[in-house]
Amino acid sequence: MKPVTIHTLASMKQKGEKISALTAYDALMAMLLDKAGIDFILVGDSCATVVQGESSTLPMTMSHTLYHTKIVRKGVQRALLVADMPFMSYQESLSKAIRNAGRLFQQAGVDAVKIEGGAEMAETIQKIARAGMPVMGHLGLTPQSVKQFGGYKLQAATRASADKLIKDARVVQDAGAFALVLEKIPQTLARQVTQALDIPTIGIGAGPHCDGQILVSHDILGLFQAFQPRFVRRYADLASEMSQAFTRYIKDVKDGNFPAPEESYDSEIE
Ligand code: KIV
Repeated sequence: MKPVTIHTLASMKQKGEKISALTAYDALMAMLLDKAGIDFILVGDSCATVVQGESSTLPMTMSHTLYHTKIVRKGVQRALLVADMPFMSYQESLSKAIRNAGRLFQQAGVDAVKIEGGAEMAETIQKIARAGMPVMGHLGLTPQSVKQFGGYKLQAATRASADKLIKDARVVQDAGAFALVLEKIPQTLARQVTQALDIPTIGIGAGPHCDGQILVSHDILGLFQAFQPRFVRRYADLASEMSQAFTRYIKDVKDGNFPAPEESYDSEIE
């Protein structure tokens, strides 16, 4: 079993082979994804919304990210492991950004980190990448800027903002990013960026023309039900299945139907 590297993803783009990616926040989910053959796993800061019950990704911290990434690492053997650098772990200063990226590599064993932002992040991407740590970019609807956007709206839908995104994508590539996430932008723009760049683009709500696709695992499993963006495809309805299992268990306990004799132990001394 050959591990996926950043070079594997680059050659997949060249061969026109689509890249699959999903999120994980714990070892069990990571192991299931890895065994299923996913190309890369992201410890997304979406952990804040789908696991921690927050209303945005902003409360995610470096210690949360280190903890979740360490436990995800235990479940991954083949896939490339990427972690989101959380809000304010890289924006404040270059030295803080490099130090925090380094902690994710040294203490949590990531293969790459993801950073949101365009030209304003070029120097940060460059410094981290030049220190030997692969960086994935993220443009379009960058959730850490949700307060500035005024909600989770479609981005780069005007000519001027689309032109800016294309420029930012080139800057991010030139700064040394090995791949770029494009979130919630028009599909024609995502196609243009994908054709213009040498590095793979990974879409989420960016249409079918990207080199790969990523979604939040809890969304495709129907586990997270607070809201469902149009770009999510549900492959299971685990929230309903779990609720039914919990209700049946509670009833069995209350009715005295659990545990049954075969679920109980006898002592040898009786
Ligand atoms: O935090 C996240 O899960 C992301 C997405 C791209 C899936 O950044």
